[in-house]
Amino acid sequence: MQVLSTKSEFREHLETVRALGRTVGLVPTMGALHEGHLSLLRAAANDCDVVALTIFVNPLQFGAGEDLDAYPRPLERDLELAEEAGADVVFTPTTSEMYPGLTLTNVHVDRLTSSMEGASRPTHFDGVTTVVTKLFNIAGPCRAYFGEKDFQQLAVVRRMAADLDQPVEIVGCPIVRETDGLAMSSRNVYLASAEREAATVINRALRAGAAMIEAGESDPSVIEAHMASIIEAEPLAALDYAAVVNPESLLTPDHLVSGTTVRLLMVAQVGTPRLLDNLGVDVP
Ligand code: PAF
Repeated sequence: MQVLSTKSEFREHLETVRALGRTVGLVPTMGALHEGHLSLLRAAANDCDVVALTIFVNPLQFGAGEDLDAYPRPLERDLELAEEAGADVVFTPTTSEMYPGLTLTNVHVDRLTSSMEGASRPTHFDGVTTVVTKLFNIAGPCRAYFGEKDFQQLAVVRRMAADLDQPVEIVGCPIVRETDGLAMSSRNVYLASAEREAATVINRALRAGAAMIEAGESDPSVIEAHMASIIEAEPLAALDYAAVVNPESLLTPDHLVSGTTVRLLMVAQVGTPRLLDNLGVDVP
């Protein structure tokens, strides 16, 4: 496995790979790899000839007062895990390599970024779409793998790639969970033990929302209120949002329509971290 830290080395490496007729699977991450990331690497290894992992904690997507400085950066361990999961090349740029001077350009996706994470973290998605565009431009034509845990991010990146004709096929991969249902996240390391137990309330609330839909409830506001009440009953958790949305537009429908699929999204703060989770539900 090669570890490259400059844009030109990474770009040239992948150009050579494609010139040999081999396909590239790109897995953009901020490191602190867990099973969720490793599942993306394995999916890329299954579909593509060469797997390229990027590890870059992108300052642009952190707001003031968020955990940029504290964000875990266990690089040695990440490299070991990445190699075991099938990565062939890893791009680990410094911040000054990625952003050598003042950046006057950013990439903004409209509408999909205004609600949920966008409402709570107003500059977040511009930071994500700007760095992901830069990574796509450096990597060149490829398939790029993103986890469904960040469901809104996946929808935003898909739309960006389509709208801007980026030569990248976006592949969404299922959420990987701990045995008690908690979605895996690099931020789970911040949870103290009582908080770790309390955090399972998020997945329980999502499953309760899904059960309501499966039992015939078709009013999104009733389902959202029910999911919210489950979080509110857990003293260590503070609800940010509970939403029932169309998986592409991310808008909340007036009524759920039989035969469609909706996505339930929730975020709650448990101790320090904000924890995200979501679930797809077929409306009976
Ligand atoms: O999902 C993440 O880890 C980040 O938002 C991403 C896509 C790597 C961009 O920095």
